[in-house]
Amino acid sequence: APVKVSKICCIGAGYVGGPTCAVVALRCPHIQVTIVDLNKARIDAWNSPNFELPIYEPGLEEVVRQARGRNLFFSTDVDKAIREADLIFVSVNTPTKKSGVGAGFAADLNYVESATRRIAAVATTNKIVVEKSTVPCRTAESMRTILEANSKPGTRFDILSNPEFLAEGTAIADLFKPDRVLIGSLQTQEGKDACQSLAEVYANWVPRERILTVGLWSSELSKLAANAMLAQRISSVNALSAICEATGANIDEVAHAVGFDSRIGPKFLRASVGFGGSCFQKDILNLVYLSESLHLPQVAEYWRQVVEMNEYQKRRFSKTVVDTLFNTITGKHIAVLGFAFKADTGDTRESASISLIRDFLQEKAYVTIYDPKVEEAQIWLDLSEALPTWPLETIKKHVSIVHSALEACTQKEAIVIATEWKEFKEIDWQAVYDGMSKPAFVFDGRMILNADELQKIGFTVKVIGRGD
Ligand code: NAD
Ligand code: UGA
Repeated sequence: APVKVSKICCIGAGYVGGPTCAVVALRCPHIQVTIVDLNKARIDAWNSPNFELPIYEPGLEEVVRQARGRNLFFSTDVDKAIREADLIFVSVNTPTKKSGVGAGFAADLNYVESATRRIAAVATTNKIVVEKSTVPCRTAESMRTILEANSKPGTRFDILSNPEFLAEGTAIADLFKPDRVLIGSLQTQEGKDACQSLAEVYANWVPRERILTVGLWSSELSKLAANAMLAQRISSVNALSAICEATGANIDEVAHAVGFDSRIGPKFLRASVGFGGSCFQKDILNLVYLSESLHLPQVAEYWRQVVEMNEYQKRRFSKTVVDTLFNTITGKHIAVLGFAFKADTGDTRESASISLIRDFLQEKAYVTIYDPKVEEAQIWLDLSEALPTWPLETIKKHVSIVHSALEACTQKEAIVIATEWKEFKEIDWQAVYDGMSKPAFVFDGRMILNADELQKIGFTVKVIGRGD
């Protein structure tokens, strides 16, 4: 029969583990939730007395304030939390492999495996082990093999797949009211019981009809499929944005008209400088690798194109900047507004901003960056990684980081909008224009500005997906 869950452990206190299990704790006051991580600095930040949490997410602080110390705990004592729990979420990172077999495509499962081995090593009672990280198909099977090969006599492990669909910037809202919760299990009685136990946890706040239960492999593949299809919509609209720029059509109007078809729908059709974030590219490359491993080269090629279109879009945008500034930006001063991969997050992983700035620096321009949430140290780290042959001092000679949009824009030749932060809409553009070298250029990579008004002020404006 299904076990009633009373203690949960979450391994990995990152963007997913932190918010997800904080919401579980908030919505299930009768369950004790302990989130553990090997990274002490991260755990210290989660425990910080003034709630200086390690990640920025609207509404997160409020959730942690209510639950922390009540039934929500953050700790580096991984073993203790594993030992006490009846259900364990594995929510560690699964980045793209940088070397070895499948380098550049396959997921690095090293962290999942060490967490799994830790569970096997310390567990003395039955555990439901839930794969929360995004993983290639059939990872649950490897986890089961490792757990069973190392379990103590009389200790049972049931493995579930429960992928997370939250988006950064709206994580708390997404967790409070998910479109669906997906749980995959083996179709044995034990598997179905474990599935039921986890479903009961979510049923504390998620309507039953939104809790979908499927087979393990379907669940794992659905996660990759959802991200691939979301990213595919963006690449489709970005491909069309290039046609718009060449013809005088307007991608905003095209996307609106197309999205009005109820079979297509309006969401995720915003043209941009290219999608970023830690998952879209990683998960599609994962799907490409899976397809290739299964000897399905045409399928692999199909999905690879979604990532290639995104690379093209980023390159195309930086080329527009160079072309428009009379074919050279050497020695010119460019303000880049936004460094995060989307608004309402401080996360910069795979941000299009990084590629743009790298291109500008390679053209020997000077770049001034402003982002409301990204830490300065993170920017230096990302730029150093993007330009591995440049010493940090050289980068620092060409880049400054400032603390307001207005300060960034003062006396520049061009302004580039890379992230759709709301505050960029509210800039005093007349004041900016007055302080700029002429002709003054604005490149809107997010379609958030009122181009007509800017043109009236005197700016030359280039908007992604607009031909005029
Ligand atoms: P993250 O890097 O922010 O967090 C992972 C954490 O796991 C790190 O703090 C790391 O120190 C810790 N960790 C690694 N190995 C450990 C171990 N053996 N024991 C204890 N702690 C360990 O990553 P994330 O963004 O939270 O993503 C986690 C997973 O969720 C990934 O598979 C990702 O694809 C998936 N995912 C992410 C998002 C998102 O929006 N970021 C959304 C859905 C799914
Ligand atoms: C995405 C998915 O939306 C989540 O469902 C999923 O759980 C998550 O990946 C994951 O697996 O990590 P996230 O990357 O946090 O979430 O944010 P999105 O809102 O999807 O945005 C991703 C990128 O696409 C951003 O750079 C965003 O600016 C860009 N985007 C999004 C567009 O360019 N156009 C759009 O219409 C929408």
